[in-house]
Amino acid sequence: MQNISKNYTSLAPYYDLLMRRIRYRDWMRYVESIIHMHTPHAQTVLDIACGTGNGMLNLRKKYRLYVAFDRSFEMIRIFKSKLRFYDIKPLLFVADVRNIPLKSDIIDAAFSIFDSLNNLLTARDLKKAFAEVFRILKKGGVFIFDLNTPYVLKEHWGTKTRIEEDEDILSIWRTRYKNGISELHITLFVKGADNKYIRVDEIHRERGYETQKVLSLLKDAGFSEVYAYDHMTFSPPSPDSLRVNYVAVK
Ligand SMILES: C[S@@+](CC[C@H](N)C(=O)[O-])C[C@H]1O[C@@H](n2cnc3c(N)ncnc32)[C@H](O)[C@@H]1O
Repeated sequence: MQNISKNYTSLAPYYDLLMRRIRYRDWMRYVESIIHMHTPHAQTVLDIACGTGNGMLNLRKKYRLYVAFDRSFEMIRIFKSKLRFYDIKPLLFVADVRNIPLKSDIIDAAFSIFDSLNNLLTARDLKKAFAEVFRILKKGGVFIFDLNTPYVLKEHWGTKTRIEEDEDILSIWRTRYKNGISELHITLFVKGADNKYIRVDEIHRERGYETQKVLSLLKDAGFSEVYAYDHMTFSPPSPDSLRVNYVAVK
């Protein structure tokens, strides 16, 4: 029986290597264009479920205050270790999006990228998260996030196994879709300095949410304007959208 670690814990040191093909720079250009559209004078930015910082560290514009948090202590630790290569000094902490330890009405623009909020497995939890983000945003502040759709979790992730091999790391990605939840078993074999491999196992779960449901939860949380776009576009999502980008204005 393998030792399954807490989400994004033993995986954290390898996260950036596993995600090296993700085009964070382009993704953040898109996010920043939306920030600019709704809050052109934003001074305070918040990265929710920031992981190792790949969202925040790819912001191009300069802001007065950078704030970021993640539920995983290890992801935050890696984020901190990368900061010596950057000229920003974000306020970083470990927290859950359902209970954000920040004062109300202080953030101009909050974003959460890469399906982080699909990790919330019930509409109740998503609602709690929206209420918290609404609370900490200033009036007129913007919240930008993306979610994997039920369609991608069911039809693309489905129930399958994928293996990837790189120089020092072999990864096995096994997905199973059941009752609206995609369960992803990730197994890594990582080559150590002594040429021996160590094994890392984690199980991640994501629930997909229908666009109309997400928009109505955002409205219920109090947001005055809500939008849904097919990811990286400004076009409406379609039934076969893989990822939907949401924008909500307080
Ligand atoms: C796929 S990673 C994305 C990380 C980062 N946003 C990126 O784009 O690289 C998902 C992240 O969501 C975080 N997360 C999951 N549930 C969370 C919650 N309830 N509150 C805060 N962070 C959460 C995980 O710890 C993980 O770092």
